[in-house]
Parts: sequence; structure tokens; C-alpha cells
Amino acid sequence: MKVIVNGANGTMGKYVISTLQSGKYDAEAVALVSPSFTEGEKDKYPALREYQGEADCVIDFSNHAGVRDLLDYCVSRQLPVVIATTGHTPEEMELIRQASEKTAVFFSANTSVGVAVLGDLIKRAAAAFTDMDIEIIERHHNRKADAPSGTALMLANQIKEVRENAEFVCGRNGHAKRQPNEIGIHAVRYGNEVGTHEIIFSNGLETVTIKHEAENRSLFADGAVKAAFFVCGKPAGFYAMKDLLA
Ligand SMILES: NC(=O)c1ccc[n+]([C@@H]2O[C@H](COP(=O)([O-])OP(=O)(O)OC[C@H]3O[C@@H](n4cnc5c(N)ncnc54)[C@H](O)[C@@H]3O)[C@@H](O)[C@H]2O)c1
Repeated sequence: MKVIVNGANGTMGKYVISTLQSGKYDAEAVALVSPSFTEGEKDKYPALREYQGEADCVIDFSNHAGVRDLLDYCVSRQLPVVIATTGHTPEEMELIRQASEKTAVFFSANTSVGVAVLGDLIKRAAAAFTDMDIEIIERHHNRKADAPSGTALMLANQIKEVRENAEFVCGRNGHAKRQPNEIGIHAVRYGNEVGTHEIIFSNGLETVTIKHEAENRSLFADGAVKAAFFVCGKPAGFYAMKDLLA
């Protein structure tokens, strides 16, 4: 599989390149794209349109602001794309949906296969444990700007699919008791913690805790490469991690 890496000079882009170079997959990076590259460097391009050579797909870990150029490029070349970038506005999400009618688009703000399985497990648990309190605790490094994490919100939304009256309470303080329909979401920040998501179910008689620990950010690159293999050769459509697990 010949991969164009968009956002190649960023933290995640570099992990994608090393995953492709690791020999684990029958795949190679044929073009590395980042606005920080200057023309003339081997295999490096400042913009996607500068590369018109062979490719099977694009893996995107760049910035949501560049999504229009990314989609124009993929649609015009009929290339499948894995969009792993986060933070898209509703307008940008609409562009992604429109593009998915013309080419295969795999979209996930969290490309960890483990987190995808975790989402399935907690949904099943929330449906079975109808009388249980649910609390989510997420831990990340001290450089993370957003709280709670996008992944914690995604997990909470997955629970809400089976607990329609759930209300998210992000952080808890004051003197009121928790309500049965609350899902408490708590963000903890310290040191270099890569990312842990823990979901607690309890009814006072028994407690079940389901936990995912990210040990290295390369796991997201690994999941994105798996997604690229999945989406290559697929017809136009909008694909996500649940399709990869199916
Ligand atoms: N899907 C996941 O599991 C997952 C995991 C981690 C990070 N992310 C997301 O991936 C994105 C990249 O994260 P990062 O930590 O590597 O960031 P980063 O800032 O280290 O790298 C971003 C890269 O994108 C490039 N870039 C910036 N604007 C661009 C544009 N308009 N067009 C093309 N390239 C552009 C930058 O030059 C840089 O190479 C973020 O949105 C982040 O939230 C997703």
C-alpha cells in the first residue's frame, strides 16, 4: 500500500512514518506533506497538490483547517482517505460527509483499536447495568489543553446511546448529591501520562471497572494504518472504527 502522509512533520505524522517504515505492514510512505516542508526535498511536499505520483490512500494527522484542500485532493484523485485529525467545525464535518459520497472516507478522532473495543464494552455494560452509577475518569499529560478529553466525551456519548436520559457532569464540586442519571466525567492532568480512560459502574453491591491505558502515541498511528488498509478499495462512503471491528 502506497501512503501519502498529510501532516508528516507533526508528532503523529512522524509516528505514522515510523510505523510504515517498521516492516510490520506491507506499506510505504510515498509522499510526506506538511506546510513546513520546502519544495525540492526528496519525497517531501509543502502541499498535497504538489504530489501527483502513485498512491493508494492518504493518512491525515494535520490540522482541521486544511480539510477542504485535503478533500478536494482526495476526491479529484479518487483516493481513499483516513482522517485522524480532530477539532473539525460543523461546516468542516459537512464537507467531510459530502466528500464521502464521492470517495471512501474513514474518519476517527481516536484511531486506537483498543478504545474502539472499549466503546463497545461499556455500551454493553451500560445497557446491562441499568441500576448502576457511571463515572468516567480520564488521565492525560500536563500539556493537554482540552478537558475532558475528546475520547472521554466520545465514550460518554456511546453510553448515552443506551441511556437516553443521561446527563454529563464534567467535574463535580459543591454539596449536591449525584443524580442517578448523571455520568460524571473527570479530567486528571499530570506529568507525561499518555492517556488513560477508566469507566466505573457501581450500584453499591458490586462495582465493575473497565479501563484502557495508552502506553505510547504510536498506537494511534498503528490504528490509522490498519484503517488505511481497511478503506483501500472500498466504495465511496463514510467509515469509522466500528466498521473496522465489524
Ligand atoms: N485520531 C487519533 O487517534 C489522534 C491521536 C492523536 C492526535 N490526533 C489529532 O491529530 C492531529 C495532529 O496531531 P499532532 O499531535 O501530530 O499535531 P502537530 O501539531 O504535532 O502536527 C500537525 C502537523 O500538521 C501540519 N499542518 C498544520 N496545518 C496544516 C494544514 N492546513 N494542512 C496540512 N498540514 C497542516 C503541521 O505542519 C504539522 O506537520 C490533531 O488534530 C490531533 O488532535 C488524533
